[in-house]
Amino acid sequence: MLEDFIQELPKAELHLHLEGTLEPEMLFELAARNKVALPYESIADVHDAYRFSSLQEFLDVYYRGASVLRTEQDFFDLTYAYLTRAAAQNIRHTEMFFDPQTHTERGVPFEIFFVGMREACQRARDEFGISTHLIMCFLRHLSAEQADQTLTDALPFAQDIIAVGLDSSEIGHPPEKFGEVFERAISLGFKTVAHAGEEAPADYIWGAINHLRVSRIDHGVSCSEDDDLLAHLVQTQLPLTMCPLSNLKLKVVDDLSNHNIASLYKLGLCVTVNSDDPAYFGGYLNENYAAISEALALKARDLAALAINSFEASFLKDEEKARYRNEITALLV
Ligand code: HPA
Ligand code: ZN
Repeated sequence: MLEDFIQELPKAELHLHLEGTLEPEMLFELAARNKVALPYESIADVHDAYRFSSLQEFLDVYYRGASVLRTEQDFFDLTYAYLTRAAAQNIRHTEMFFDPQTHTERGVPFEIFFVGMREACQRARDEFGISTHLIMCFLRHLSAEQADQTLTDALPFAQDIIAVGLDSSEIGHPPEKFGEVFERAISLGFKTVAHAGEEAPADYIWGAINHLRVSRIDHGVSCSEDDDLLAHLVQTQLPLTMCPLSNLKLKVVDDLSNHNIASLYKLGLCVTVNSDDPAYFGGYLNENYAAISEALALKARDLAALAINSFEASFLKDEEKARYRNEITALLV
C-alpha cells in the first residue's frame, strides 16, 4: 500500500553517482563493445563481488566497473538508462554526480564523457520531462593540485555544471585539503557540496561547512555524535542527502532499524532520501523510501515530508520548489 504512495510521490534525487548506476548487464555489454577484460564470468559472479564491508572495498569494485566506459556513446547509454528508470519511479528532478578523474586518469578526455552525459540529459528532458543538474566531484584520495587541474579542464563546460562536490575514500582526506580549490570554484560561480560524515566523524561535517562552504552535506550520518552540530543543522536547515541502502551495504549501519534518518527528521533537520550507487546497493530511490518506511515505521505523511525536503534541498528555483510542495501536499488530503 505504501509502495503505491511512494511510486505516486513526486521526488527529487540529490545524491546519485552516475558511475554507480552501471548495472551488471550494461557492464558486460560495454566490456564486450570496448574489449575490456572483466574479472567476472557471469552476472552471478558480479553479484558475488558486490558484498562489501567498507567504503574502500566498494570503491575498488566501482572504479574497476567504470573502466568499461570509454566512448561518448557509452556515457550517453549509462546516463539515459538511469534517467529512464528515474522517470519511471516518478523522480521529477535529479542532481547527478560524476567523477571526471575516474575517466581522465584512464585517458578518456572531459569532452567525451561530458558530452555523452549532457546529450542524455537533453533527450530525457524532451522525452520524459525530467529535469537534471550535473555536479562534478573531485576524488578526495587524489591531491588538491589534481582537483585544481580538473576544475580547469571543466571550464569549457561550466555552464552545464551546477556545483562541485567531493567523494571517494573519506578517512584521512578531510575537507580542509580542498579548501583552496573550492574557493576557486565558488569564485567561478559553482555551488558546493561534499560527502562528509559517511565513515568519518562529525569533525568532517564541520570541515565541509566551514572550509568548503557547502549548500548540502552528502551522507552526514555521523552528525548525531555532536549536539552543537545537530543544533546548527536544525537552525540553518543545511540539508543532508542520506542514502539508507548504501549505508547498510557499506556497513555504516548494521541494520536499517538503527539508521538515524528518522530521528534526524523528527529532530527537525532537513534530511532527504537518495540511492547513491543503486546498481551496487540493491535499490533505486523508491526502494530506499520503502526500506526506511518499513524499518523505521515511517508513515505516508513522513515520506511526503521527506519528498518535499528533496525539492527544498535542490538547486531548483523557488517557484519550482513551491509547485512540487503544493503537488505533494495535495496527495495527503
Ligand atoms: N562515498 C564516497 N565516494 C563515493 C560514494 C560514496 O558513497 N559513491 C561513489 N563514490
Ligand atoms: Zn555518494
